[in-house]
Formats: sequence, C-alpha cells, structure tokens
Amino acid sequence: MIELHDATKTYEQGRRVVNAVRGVTMSVTGGEFVTIMGPSGSGKSTLMHLMGALDTPSTGRAIFQGQNLQAMSDSERSLLRRTRIGFVFQAFNLLPTLTAAENVALPLLLGGTARRLAMARAIECLQNVGLDPRKDHYPEELSGGEMQRVAVARALIADPDAVLCDEPTGNLDTATSRDILELLSKLPAPNRRAVILVTHDPSAAAYGTRLVKIRDGVIESDEPVRR
Ligand SMILES: Nc1ncnc2c1ncn2[C@@H]1O[C@H](COP(=O)(O)OP(=O)(O)O)[C@@H](O)[C@H]1O
Ligand SMILES: [Mg+2]
Repeated sequence: MIELHDATKTYEQGRRVVNAVRGVTMSVTGGEFVTIMGPSGSGKSTLMHLMGALDTPSTGRAIFQGQNLQAMSDSERSLLRRTRIGFVFQAFNLLPTLTAAENVALPLLLGGTARRLAMARAIECLQNVGLDPRKDHYPEELSGGEMQRVAVARALIADPDAVLCDEPTGNLDTATSRDILELLSKLPAPNRRAVILVTHDPSAAAYGTRLVKIRDGVIESDEPVRR
C-alpha cells in the first residue's frame, strides 16, 4: 500500500544541512500495524510524513497505492490525504471553537459533503470510539484521552486506507495510553487498513504486528512482533 524506495530527506537551514532520512526502503501493506521506534531526532516524524504524503523525499521514491507521490501536485496530494489517509498527532490538533462532532466532521465538510450527512457520519465515528455521549462537548471540556479519541474518530471519517499516528500517547498517562493503543490496534481489521504508529513508548510495540527501529535516519531493524 505504501512504499519507500531508497528515500532520503534533507533539510537545509542556512548553512546547516540535516539528513533526516538517509536511504530508507520499506513497504507497508493493508492489515499491518507497524510501530516505528527510535531516539528523539532519529527521523521518525520525517519518515511518517513521507509515507503519508505530508512531504516528499529529496531523492528516491514514495508510492501510495501505486501512485508516485512526487509526480502529484500539492493539491492532488492534499486530496489524497483527505480521502485516503487519516492522521493522529500527539497534540490532538482539535479546533477549540468546534464541538467534538464538528471536529470529526471537518474533513468531510472541507471536502464539500453536506453538513447533515457529514454530522451523521461523524456521530457514527464517535460511536465507534465510544465517545458519542460527548459529541456536543468542546475540546476544553474533554480529558486528554477523550480528545485523542475524537482525533482518532476524525482520522477515520473518510474510511481511509491508512492511519498514521505520530506519538499519539505522548501527552497521556499510562492507563489512557493503553486504551488508545488498544483502540488503534483494532483499526487494521476488518477493512485491511494499514496503521503506522510512531512512538517512544517501548510497551506500544506489543500492540502492533511489526516493529521498525530507526536510528540516525536509517532502519536499524524491521521485524514481525510475536503475540
Ligand atoms: N522542518 C525541518 N527543518 C529542519 N530540520 C528538521 C525539520 N524537521 C526535522 N528536522 C531535523 O531532522 C531530524 C529528524 O527529525 P524528526 O524526523 O522530527 O525526528 P523524530 O521524529 O525521530 O524526533 C532532526 O535532526 C530534526 O532537527
Ligand atoms: Mg517526531
């Protein structure tokens, strides 16, 4: 579903050049739950951005379901992200002036779906994460775990082929983290979705089907997880 071929990403800041990703080849197929771990600054977020069409490689290739991401325009990539890929971030990224249901519906509303349809689908997604009783609450009225559930529901609104999560439990306590990881681990089935989880949390790997370790922008190991 997602392929990187000898992908690199170089950032230039004035005279400083950072090789954040240095020649990564890997692919992720539907139904997999891939956990990506590595020290801070090792290139995890950059790698996730390449796989999720948030950014394109400096050299090498990134492919999403057979489509070469570099060959697409910014607006084509943004359409692909809105319709085929869900994202979950550490900081939840909910809009404070919108209710939980409106936050979940937002990707559909931005895509031009009628409000009544979008809200109905949003409430369905909130039900799937056990949060429909909170649908009319604003983010500041929700706990961290609840906000992250709203973000997961929002990531699922377009029934995406892949869900990419960057340190989704980074702001949560241990018990709440476990709930969120449990929820994420149920996403690949039954739709054969791919889930990619970037995390610092060593206990998170147990929820996935595969563990990729990255260091200094290169893959150090890539192994199935035995349950
Ligand atoms: N937009 C950027 N501009 C310049 N350097 C960046 C940028 N994003 C990341 N980097 C650098 O690239 C390296 C990898 O960063 P990142 O992918 O965020 O690592 P991680 O998510 O593993 O902490 C770091 O050295 C970081 O400082
Ligand atoms: Mg990061």
